[in-house]
Amino acid sequence: MRALTRLAPPLLLATALVWSGVGPAGAATPPTKVPEAVGRGGAVATVDADATAAGIEVLRKGGNAVDAAVAAAAALGVTEPYSSGIGGGGYFVYYDHATGRVHTIDGRETAGRTADSGLFLEDGKPLAFADAVTSGLSVGVPGTPATWDAALRKWGTRSLAQNLEPAERIADHGFVVDDTFRGQTADNYARFKDFPATAALYLPNGKPPETGSVLRNPDLAATYRLLAKDGVKAFYQGELAKDIANTVQHPPVDPASGRNARPGKVDTTDLADYRVRDQAPTHVSHGAYDVYAMAPSSSGGTTVGEALNILEDGGDVSTYSGTQYYHHFLEASRISFADRNRWVGDPAFNDVPTRELLSERYAASRACLISPDHALTSPLAPGDPRHPAPCADTGQAVPEPYEGPNTTHLTVADRWGNIVSYTLTIEQTGGSGITVPGRGFLLNNELTDFDFTPLAPGVPDPNLPGPGKRPRSSMSPTVVLRDGEPLLATGSPGGATIITTTLQVLLGRLDRGLSLEQAIAAPRASQRNSATTQAEPAFLALPERAALEGLGHSFVNGGEIGAATGVERLPDGRWVAAAEPVRRGGGSAAVVRPAG
Ligand code: GLY
Repeated sequence: MRALTRLAPPLLLATALVWSGVGPAGAATPPTKVPEAVGRGGAVATVDADATAAGIEVLRKGGNAVDAAVAAAAALGVTEPYSSGIGGGGYFVYYDHATGRVHTIDGRETAGRTADSGLFLEDGKPLAFADAVTSGLSVGVPGTPATWDAALRKWGTRSLAQNLEPAERIADHGFVVDDTFRGQTADNYARFKDFPATAALYLPNGKPPETGSVLRNPDLAATYRLLAKDGVKAFYQGELAKDIANTVQHPPVDPASGRNARPGKVDTTDLADYRVRDQAPTHVSHGAYDVYAMAPSSSGGTTVGEALNILEDGGDVSTYSGTQYYHHFLEASRISFADRNRWVGDPAFNDVPTRELLSERYAASRACLISPDHALTSPLAPGDPRHPAPCADTGQAVPEPYEGPNTTHLTVADRWGNIVSYTLTIEQTGGSGITVPGRGFLLNNELTDFDFTPLAPGVPDPNLPGPGKRPRSSMSPTVVLRDGEPLLATGSPGGATIITTTLQVLLGRLDRGLSLEQAIAAPRASQRNSATTQAEPAFLALPERAALEGLGHSFVNGGEIGAATGVERLPDGRWVAAAEPVRRGGGSAAVVRPAG
C-alpha cells in the first residue's frame, strides 16, 4: 500500500494515474491516490495506487477488463502481499458485454487429498487457532495463478506475460511503504521473525520497514518472470511446485525460535491436480436490478442474495426511516447468516441448497420472522430451505464460527463495457506467515476457514475439512445489471464481514439514494447471528443508535469494517471508479480518461 495523496486537483489526475516509474534514486515514486474518479475508457478501483495504476496501464495499452484485473491483482501481490498473492486464492466474476452474460471462476484454495475432518485436531482436541494459522497444516493448494490463467484464456486479449509486466516492474524497483503496510508488518512481527525467508523479505534490518522507505521483492519479480515465460504450469509442476510442497511439509522455521510450525501434507501431486471451477453465478432480482455473485464454495452470493430477498419481501427499503432501514438490514443479515452457517460448504462434498436458499418462497418464510418493533435473539436457528414454512426453523441454532478480517477486492471496467469484480486473499493478514524461500511470496492459511470441529453437536456441518475440499468463503464479488445493461460492481475484504459490507454497499446505492462513493464511505455494522452486532465507531455515533438499542440491538465497537471498491456506469456512458476514502489508509480509484 502507498502513501496517501488525497484529493489531488483534477488536472493532476490525468497524468498522475499512469505508473510513474523510477525516481532519481532508483526507487519507485508513488502514483497519486484518490478514492474516486470519473471518466471514460475504463476504470479501476483497488486498495492500492500502484495496483490501480497497473490496471490503468493495461487498459491504456488496449487490454480489456480481464487483462487489467490480472495486472492489478499481480501488482497487489507485491504491494498488498499480506492480503493476496500467488500463494492464495479467490473468486473472479466477469460480466461479458458482448453476450450480456455473467461468468465466474472459483479459484479457491483446496485441501490436499490426504486431509480429513481431523485436519486441525491434535490428541482429539482442536488446535488453538493461532497455532493452526502459522503452520503448513493450514496451507491450501493456491488457486490464484490458475485463476489468472483461466480468466485470460477465456476472456483476456493479452498474454499473461504482458499482464504481469507492471507488477514485475514494481517488484524490481520497489514500492513506498505506508503506515498501513508498516502497521500490518508490525502486527505480524512476532511470527514473521521466526521464518528467516519471511524476515528477509519483510523485516529489513530485523524490523518492520519504516514508513516512506522503499521495499523491493526481486524474488517475486523472478517468480513472475518464470510464470510469464513458462505459464502457470511452472507454478503447479516443476521446481517451483517442489519448493511449495517442501515449504508446506517442512515449514522453514528458525530452530532457535522455539516455534512449533506444524507441517502440512500438501504435495506436488496436489499441486498438479489443482483446477479452478467454472460455475454459474448466483442471481437474485432486487427491484429493477439483477444481482450476480459467487455460488458456493463461497457463501457470498447465497448470503447476500438471501438477505436481499428477505428485505424485498418485507417491504420497500427505500421508504424506511433510518432506524427501520438499519433494523431491517441487521435482521436480514442475522437470518441469512443463520442459514449460511448451517447449509453452505463446498458443493462437491455437500448437497448445498443454493437454489432453494435464493428462492423467493424461502425468503418469504424467513422474512416473516422480522418485527418492526423488536430485534430477534441470536443465535437464531436456521430454516429449512428445501421445506420452507412461514417462520419455521430447524430448532437447532448453529453458533458463528471465527473468521478474521483479511483479503482484498478489486473492480475493473473497460471501454467495451466488460466488468470484473474480483476478491482474492491469502486468508489472515500475512497468511500463514511462511514465505516460500527464494520465491518472494507468502503461503495462505486458507484451510483455517474450515470449522475445526462441528459447530453444534448433532447438527451436520458442511464446512469440516475433507480431501480435496474447499473451505467455505465469505468473498462476495458482485455485479449488478439494470434492464440487462451493466450498472455496477462491488465487493470487499473482511472475512465474514465481507458479506454484510457488500450487502450494505448494495442497499446504500440501490435503495437508499446514495452514490456509490457515499455507499462505500457510509458507517458500517455487521450482524452475523450473534448476540451483539459489530459496528464501526462512526456507526455507533449515528443518531439512530439509541432507537436501534431500544428495539433490542446491542452493539460492540468492531473497529474498521471492510475496504470496498466499486465501479459504476453512468447513464451517459462515463465510468465512476470508487474506493475507500479512509479505511485501510484509503483506496485508489482511477479512470483512463478523466472526464468529471
Ligand atoms: N478468507 C476469507 C474468505 O474466504 O472469506
